[in-house]
Amino acid sequence: MAAQTLTIVDNRTGKKIDVPIEEGGIRATELAKLGLVSYDPALLNTAACKSKISFIDGDRGILRYRGYPIEELAEKSSFLETAYLIVKGELPTTSHFRMWKHNITWHTLVHENLKQFIEGFRYDAHPMGILIGTVGALSTFYPEARNVMDLESRRMQTRRLIGKMPTIAAFAYRHSRGLPYVYPDNDLSYTGNFLSMMFKMTELKYKPDPVLEHALDVLFILHADHEQNCSTTTMRTIGSSLADPYVAVAGAAAALAGPRHGSANEEVVHMLHEIGSADGVPGLIKQVKAGERRLMGFGHRVYKNYDPRAKIIKRIAHEVFEVTGKNPLIDIALELERIALQDDYFVSRKLYPNVDFYSGIIYEAMQLPVAMFPVLFAIARTAGWMAQWAELVLDEEQKITRPKQIYTGYDERSYVPLDQRRDGGALEPEVSGPL
Ligand code: CMC
Repeated sequence: MAAQTLTIVDNRTGKKIDVPIEEGGIRATELAKLGLVSYDPALLNTAACKSKISFIDGDRGILRYRGYPIEELAEKSSFLETAYLIVKGELPTTSHFRMWKHNITWHTLVHENLKQFIEGFRYDAHPMGILIGTVGALSTFYPEARNVMDLESRRMQTRRLIGKMPTIAAFAYRHSRGLPYVYPDNDLSYTGNFLSMMFKMTELKYKPDPVLEHALDVLFILHADHEQNCSTTTMRTIGSSLADPYVAVAGAAAALAGPRHGSANEEVVHMLHEIGSADGVPGLIKQVKAGERRLMGFGHRVYKNYDPRAKIIKRIAHEVFEVTGKNPLIDIALELERIALQDDYFVSRKLYPNVDFYSGIIYEAMQLPVAMFPVLFAIARTAGWMAQWAELVLDEEQKITRPKQIYTGYDERSYVPLDQRRDGGALEPEVSGPL
C-alpha cells in the first residue's frame, strides 16, 4: 500500500518533511516544522474540527444528519425528533421521545423579567436584534450554565434553549407589533405552539392549520444543522473559551443575521418584490452579471449542485399554497431560476438555488413577516448549535480558538510628537450634532 504521507520540500532550504495523511487531511501544525503557517482566509480549505453530526457532499447535493438523508427526515420525522437525533446522535425510542418532548415543553415559558427586558427595545427594533440580545440576557438568569463540563448542566441548557427560542422569537414579533405577548400552549406541537404565540388574538384556544404547522415543521428540520457554516463556527469559537451556551448562541445568531447567511431569505423576498413580475427578471440578471449585486438565494460555499433543501422546499410550497392561496412571488422565482440555470454566468460558477431561495416565499404566504425569517432560521438552528457546542467541549483535541495571522503592517517605528506629524492617515470627517 502506498505511504499515507505527503512529502513537502522547502526549496529555499532543501529541508524535507513527511506529513501523515489522516482521514483525508494533514495537520497544518506540521508546517511549523518548516517555520510556515497555512494561510486560508475564510477557511476555504481548513477543517477545524472532527464532527459526527451532519454530512454534506456538495457536488452530489447530499445532506445527512447523523447518517440519515435529509429527504427521509423531511418526509418521515418531526422537528423535535430530528433535534433529538442531532443532539443525542440516535433517533429516540418511544419512551425517550416522550421524555424529550416533555422536557422541551417544560421549558417553553420564560422568566417574567425577560418580558420587561424585551419591552426595553424600541417599538421598531428588528426581531433578530431582539432575539440576539434576549438570548444573551438568558445567561444572567442561569449562572450555573457556566459549568460547561457538567453533563447535566449541558442537557438542561439544551432543553431550555430549544424550548425558549420560539417563545422569545414570538415575543420579539409581538413587541414589534405592539401586541400582547401570548404564553406558550403546551398542548400544541412545537411549531403549532409557535404559530399560536405568533398569531393568537382573542380566541380562547388557537388552532393551527395542520398543513401550515407541518410545513413549518419541515422547514425547521431542513434548517436544523449544516456542518461548519458561519454561525456554527461562531458557536464553536465562542464555546472554545468555555463561555456559557447562552452567550455563545447569541453570538451564533449574530453571525446568522447577515445577508450572506441567515438573512438571505429576507433579501430574496425584498429582491422578488423589487423585480415585481416575471418581465423584470432579465433586468435583474443583467445587474447580477455586471457585478452590481448578487442573486440572493443562489450560490453556496459547499453545494456546487442543487441544494437538496431547496428541492424539498419547492415541493412543500405547493402544499402551503393550497391553504394560503398562491404567493405570486413564486412565478418570479421560478422564472429567475429557469433563466439563471441556462445562463453561463451561473452555470460556470455552479450557482444553484439554496435553502433560502424558496423558504421566504412560503413564510410570506403563511403571513410570517419578512423580518422574522432569520429568526425562524435561528429557532431551528439552535438544535445544531447546541449539538456542535457539546461536541466541541467534549473534544479533547480542541483548545481555545486562536488562529495565526500574517502581519503586513509596519516594522517598529518611533512615536512622533503631534506638531511634527505630516501624515495623519485618512481624514476623520467632522461630525456635527449630538454624538
Ligand atoms: N449571485 C451572483 N454571483 C455570485 C453569487 C450570487 N448569489 N454567489 C456567488 N457568486 C459569484 C461570485 O461573484 C464569484 O464570482 P467571481 O469568481 O467571478 O468573482 C463566484 O460566484 C464565487 O463566489 P464567492 O463569493 O467566492 O463564493 P462563496 O463561497 O464565498 O459565497 C455565498 C457563498 C453563499 C456567500 C454566496 O454564494 C452568496 O453571497 N450568495 C447569496 C447569499 C445567499 O443566498 N446566502 C445564503 C446561503 S445558504 C443559507 C446559509 O447557509 O445561510
